[in-house]
Amino acid sequence: MTPVTDIFHKRHILVTGAALGIGKSIAERFIKLGATVAVADTSLDSATSCAEFLIALGCGKAYPVHMNVADAAMVEDRIEKATAQIGQPFDTLINNAGISPKHNGCSVPVWDMDPDEWRKVMDVNLTGCFNTIRYVVPMMRQRRQGWIVNMASIAAKIYSPIVSCHYSASKAGIIGLTRQLAGELGPDGIRVNAISPGRIATDMTDHIDEAAFLEQIADTPMRRFGLPGEVAEMAVFLSSQASSFVTGQTVDVAGGYCMT
Ligand code: NAI
Repeated sequence: MTPVTDIFHKRHILVTGAALGIGKSIAERFIKLGATVAVADTSLDSATSCAEFLIALGCGKAYPVHMNVADAAMVEDRIEKATAQIGQPFDTLINNAGISPKHNGCSVPVWDMDPDEWRKVMDVNLTGCFNTIRYVVPMMRQRRQGWIVNMASIAAKIYSPIVSCHYSASKAGIIGLTRQLAGELGPDGIRVNAISPGRIATDMTDHIDEAAFLEQIADTPMRRFGLPGEVAEMAVFLSSQASSFVTGQTVDVAGGYCMT
């Protein structure tokens, strides 16, 4: 059987929102398996320092990409430039970029929701996935192989008091997008799956209200929050030969918090 490192050695992977948190951990995991990773983020400085950190690991190759996934024209331009720089098309896309605006650490009820904030969350979390997929899929179809992993959330499946309706709706959209595209792209050898993390310790969840924090721990059978690396392992699995007959699925990484 071919070792996992040999498989990823030839992979060209675009990870969005890769400068921090779960995205950085995913990029690190792939790099350690020998892959070439484009580290895309809204902040070029943080994408660059993340790429430098990854290069210093001495395993695969990393390239910083300044990309706002909500900006379709920018996504098209940066994907074109990154593939030219790397010299190969992307075969793996990890749609990780996401935002979850809070107000003083709390969610906002629908009656107070600012329509502009609603649109912004949809643009980044859901349309952002569409934008990158739109421009990467033609390369994958040409080669008749590809792996796409989209980052959903357990908030797409069950009520979560710590997020707002824009976030839950955007993540539910990702689950639908994942299923539909798995159907459309399966015949081209492209697998599309999603990950639904529970509470993971990152900057995104750092400022959440203490009471909600304790309640969520109590409701999690494993009695702890997850680590970014635990989500990264699932991203690797869904992009590897080990999951060769898995597509259209959304897999929970949530310590049993959600069992739907
Ligand atoms: P984070 O806030 O720590 O990191 C997100 C990264 O995405 C940052 O580097 C940020 O600059 C980047 N980003 C934000 N908007 C962007 C845009 N428009 N274009 C490109 N990059 C952008 O977040 P975290 O916790 O690492 O979350 C990663 C993904 O996992 C998100 O999609 C999030 O919704 C999802 N998730 C996180 C959970 C958690 O508990 N941390 C739980 C469930 C889902």
